[in-house]
Amino acid sequence: MLTSIEISKSLSEKDHTVIILHKESDLKHYLKKAEEIEYVKKKLQDFSIVFLNQLYRNVYFVKEKDHTDLYKKNEALRKTGCELSSICKKEKIRNIYLTGNKEEVLLAAEGLLLGGYEFLKYKSKKETVALETITLVAEKISKEAVHELENLIEATFMARDLVNEPVVFLNAEQFSEEIKKAGKEGGFKVEVFSKSKIESLKMGGLLGVNKGSVDPPAFNVLEYKPAKAKNKKPYILVGKGVVYDTGGLSLKDTASMDKMKCDMAGGAAVTGAMYAIAKNKLPIYVIGLIPVTDNRPNGNAITPGDVITISNGKTVEVLNTDAEGRLILADALSYASRYKPELVIDLATLTGSAMRAIGKEGIVFMGNAPKKVKHELMESGDDVYERLVEFPLWEEYGKQLESDIADIKNIGGMDAGAITAGKFLEHFVDYDWLHLDIAGSAFLTGTDSYRCKNGTGVGVRLLYNFFKKIN
Ligand code: BES
Ligand code: ZN
Ligand code: ZN
Repeated sequence: MLTSIEISKSLSEKDHTVIILHKESDLKHYLKKAEEIEYVKKKLQDFSIVFLNQLYRNVYFVKEKDHTDLYKKNEALRKTGCELSSICKKEKIRNIYLTGNKEEVLLAAEGLLLGGYEFLKYKSKKETVALETITLVAEKISKEAVHELENLIEATFMARDLVNEPVVFLNAEQFSEEIKKAGKEGGFKVEVFSKSKIESLKMGGLLGVNKGSVDPPAFNVLEYKPAKAKNKKPYILVGKGVVYDTGGLSLKDTASMDKMKCDMAGGAAVTGAMYAIAKNKLPIYVIGLIPVTDNRPNGNAITPGDVITISNGKTVEVLNTDAEGRLILADALSYASRYKPELVIDLATLTGSAMRAIGKEGIVFMGNAPKKVKHELMESGDDVYERLVEFPLWEEYGKQLESDIADIKNIGGMDAGAITAGKFLEHFVDYDWLHLDIAGSAFLTGTDSYRCKNGTGVGVRLLYNFFKKIN
């Protein structure tokens, strides 16, 4: 059950309450006794949350340190919100009031909600989520802002659920079903191309990777086109949808395979972002493209040394079947060209190299889009704390992809693997484009505050924020 957010004009005397202090002198509005004020002030020097018990209820005072960058303070508030969510679970708190200025209250609520995420579908004992309602008390806070946040959280949870689903449930066909459900609830159109349509489009990358699978592939086209869109040419979001990556005949070992249900996290992020954009009715025309298959070493699987032809006519020598993401993305990026897009952003758990370079702390990105667009996306990354770092696409790296027998090969050498993957994708774009390698931040093996263990939903809040700020 999702925690609901309410708005109230006044605080309750009986309920558990969180007070976000803008400045310490505000304490006198909430506490009468001088010794209590002194106690809280003193504790706040060492902790960002201080609590006082008032018999049947707890009052939590929150004061974040000032940072030179506002986005860092905002992140601290989300993290404090997440700590409050653990406290609520432990204390079995069902309703809580949250007061402060409206921006800060919304940030703490965001952390509280995101931190409360659980994936319980396969647990026999489903412990219920403790927190039922958060009541916000803040001047000028609007119902619209609250709904917007609720929709964004729901979209992030949708992406997390999709990533956390094992392939026994989430095969290509089921992924399309989930995307259709999201479209119905969120208000965007979904068209699913069957295998025969994919064949008629000559998507040799998607079909090649799918050759080792017993399940057919799918190519999902999501469309949100509001009447008053600010853009004529669409923005296109492309998401890698490998529902499970065994590596194919270039088989992974168990330790690097056991998390590979996460290899559709790009597709999940695109689904979640489309949901948030449509549900919140942003005036932006956006298309999502999600090619989906699993990657397995079955009877007729593609072999190292095979040559395939991508839908734009380029031939690829497949020297490693574990570099499969770029093959299905090549078809999706080629398909995007027919829309003459404003900008294409692809998201993919593409390389171990990106993960090793930046870990879980951020996203490696690259592309040919104008500096201004890159800067705007990076700013959105700071805003939601899904930070981006740019890697170069210098032409020298392209040499690594030269093939003896085809136009290009699908792997480079030992070094700069995230970049050579980007250079590969570059062969299939003829528009402004950004590639986001989310291999490091899509799936966590330990909890990282409100990002939670397992699927993080990375990309959803980032893309939503980016499109919200476009004008
Ligand atoms: N899905 C993997 C990349 C990955 C690694 C995602 C770790 C999430 C966490 C991708 O398909 C892959 O296997 N890439 C290979 C490419 C190599 C064979 C050129 C890699 O990075 O090792
Ligand atoms: Zn792979
Ligand atoms: Zn993969």
